[in-house]
Amino acid sequence: MVVLLAGGAGFIGSHMAVELLNNNYDVIIVDNFQNSKKEVINRIKKLTGKDFLLYEYDLLDSLKLNEIFVSNKIDYVIHLAALKSVGESVLNPMLYYRTNLNITINLCEAMKNNGVKNIIFSSSACVYSEKNQMPLTEDSEIGNCSNPYGWSKFMSEQILKDISVQNPDWSVVCLRYFNLIGADESGEIGEYSENPKNLPPIILNVATSKLDFLKVFGNDYETLDGSCIRDYIHITDLVKGHISAIKYQEKHKGFDIFNLGTGKGTSVFELVETFEKINNVKIPLKIESRREGDIAISYCSVQKANDILNWKAEKMIEDACSDMWIWQNKNPFGYNKN
Ligand code: WQD
Repeated sequence: MVVLLAGGAGFIGSHMAVELLNNNYDVIIVDNFQNSKKEVINRIKKLTGKDFLLYEYDLLDSLKLNEIFVSNKIDYVIHLAALKSVGESVLNPMLYYRTNLNITINLCEAMKNNGVKNIIFSSSACVYSEKNQMPLTEDSEIGNCSNPYGWSKFMSEQILKDISVQNPDWSVVCLRYFNLIGADESGEIGEYSENPKNLPPIILNVATSKLDFLKVFGNDYETLDGSCIRDYIHITDLVKGHISAIKYQEKHKGFDIFNLGTGKGTSVFELVETFEKINNVKIPLKIESRREGDIAISYCSVQKANDILNWKAEKMIEDACSDMWIWQNKNPFGYNKN
């Protein structure tokens, strides 16, 4: 079975490629390397001992993208290609809508034009409305997103849902990711970004003194310790959830949605304390004002994925803190040459 990984050289994509290759799927990676380094390709090959096709194309180029579908017999598409910073999307909404929506449309058109009928879409907890009760289920209210990133995922889900209605022989699965954390236990691949905006890599930058302190965006939320609560899911559990979704697609057509999280909420202060304890490092903090676009609490129910995909997260927040520190220490310069 051939799986096209759109955005396959990124943090999720690289871990997805390893998991697919280790499960004997054939993989095609398409990525413009805007948010990743070529070195990650060597690491995927080193970890799996397997080769795969790589296209260094921009997914916004629909002609180039169609070439890949014409040249290869593709069975599944996993759409991981998107800009993903909540804070950045507030500052640059047009970039987020143009990029995230056009890539979704380009992929669906290439699939339709070439008879490919299975897609897994990397959606997000950010599609849920802020006023929902916790835990978030797949039936919780969506929309009224607090940031353009969340809206772009909401709109992409709607595009896929409408396409699914017109193409009943397609299988469309939207996986709503919660907050990603951790790294492959080998320490060979991990989350690497020149200028990270999300919490886990920023904690690593403080732990290695690239930053003097961690800015905590608000300690006055209505939570136990005043900091925001999120559902941090280990990247290894997340990619295993995609394998379960592919197996589900082998037997099911239509449109489906599943939360991929742990079902547990962890505050910013709790995550920092866990990281400090597990790795015996100090993370200096500086309390700042709230970040626009943030919501106080977000964690999910994982009952549906458990019942239908027979999947649940196995790793704990402690494993993630340890694995991300191993990645950091093995790769002090990320994927840059040391
Ligand atoms: C988490 C918490 C910040 C940085 C993420 C992904 C997004 C999506 C949803 C998948 C918030 C606080 C952060 C810092 C801080 N995932 N924080 N200081 O906004 O929940 O979104 O999950 O689709 O792609 O980014 O993640 O890590 O930015 O923030 O205090 O320097 O950490 O305020 O409460 P977020 P995040």
